[in-house]
Amino acid sequence: MVDSIYRTRSLGVAAEGLPDQYADGRAARVWQLYIGDTRSRTAEYKNWLVSVLRGHGCKTVLDVACGTGVDSIMLVEEGFKVTSVDASDKMLKYALKERWNRRKEAPFDDWVIEEANWLTLSQDVQKPGEGFDAVICLGNSFAHLPDFKGDQAVHKQALKNIASMVRPGGILVIDHRNYDYILETGCAPPGKNIYYKSDLTQDITTSVLLVNNKPNMVTLDYTLQVPPEGDDGSPELSQFRLSYYPHLLEPFTELLKKSVHGPCEHTVLGDFKPYKPGQQYIPCYFIHVLKKTG
Ligand SMILES: C[S@@+](CC[C@H](N)C(=O)[O-])C[C@H]1O[C@@H](n2cnc3c(N)ncnc32)[C@H](O)[C@@H]1O
Repeated sequence: MVDSIYRTRSLGVAAEGLPDQYADGRAARVWQLYIGDTRSRTAEYKNWLVSVLRGHGCKTVLDVACGTGVDSIMLVEEGFKVTSVDASDKMLKYALKERWNRRKEAPFDDWVIEEANWLTLSQDVQKPGEGFDAVICLGNSFAHLPDFKGDQAVHKQALKNIASMVRPGGILVIDHRNYDYILETGCAPPGKNIYYKSDLTQDITTSVLLVNNKPNMVTLDYTLQVPPEGDDGSPELSQFRLSYYPHLLEPFTELLKKSVHGPCEHTVLGDFKPYKPGQQYIPCYFIHVLKKTG
């Protein structure tokens, strides 16, 4: 069976750009299982993110692709004041449930969760003063936004909207898979997922779609072993498909820098370690940290 992951209600323009080929509740359950809870984050990932945020003196964080809330929950638990948004109500349902279950803990009672789309972010999200100390867009989320017209106008708009939520002096942390390697070789780089401890994945099949001879979409077909719902069932194999725009490192860096009005400092990491082009180790993910310096 092929499951769908994201579903949006009919929001018209607000739903623009959200891949809704992924459309039912069972699929959101598969995602939740794949991602797991906050304890499923690797220690490396958690330590890196928390230390980058603390190192830049961040207290307020906007998670613009919170999904089921896995990063946001981790940050609320670490004492950050978190606002979490996502365009998929199916994904947000899990975050809302966690907030409700933990509402007696003050930080969870203060946790803000809203439905919002990157393309209409300034209307959907209330910016505190000059903006948030940090905005995060992680888990290869931004690559979900397709390039509708072949000119990346939608990517530019979404990045501009996302960057506009960062206060002067604040940071934007955004990542994408290593599509340079995927396009070069036709496969995702070998190696364990640096974000999730989940060991449910059995296989990932990669397909690349060319439009006018230019790579326009990468499709990853995941095969997962899903635990049974009750005590008596047996595990089943589940397949789901996610599609991404293949952002290459250099052009994405340029796009990112242009999304900020004024001066900025840019750093790129490969799997959370300092990255140098041409290095031997091939990262699965690139993580960009952009600091608004002016
Ligand atoms: C790969 S999931 C990652 C979620 C979470 N950051 C994680 O790592 O578990 C990507 C998320 O991006 C959201 N998303 C995709 N397009 C969006 C858009 N245009 N506006 C807001 N959210 C969007 C999806 O609904 C989904 O929850």
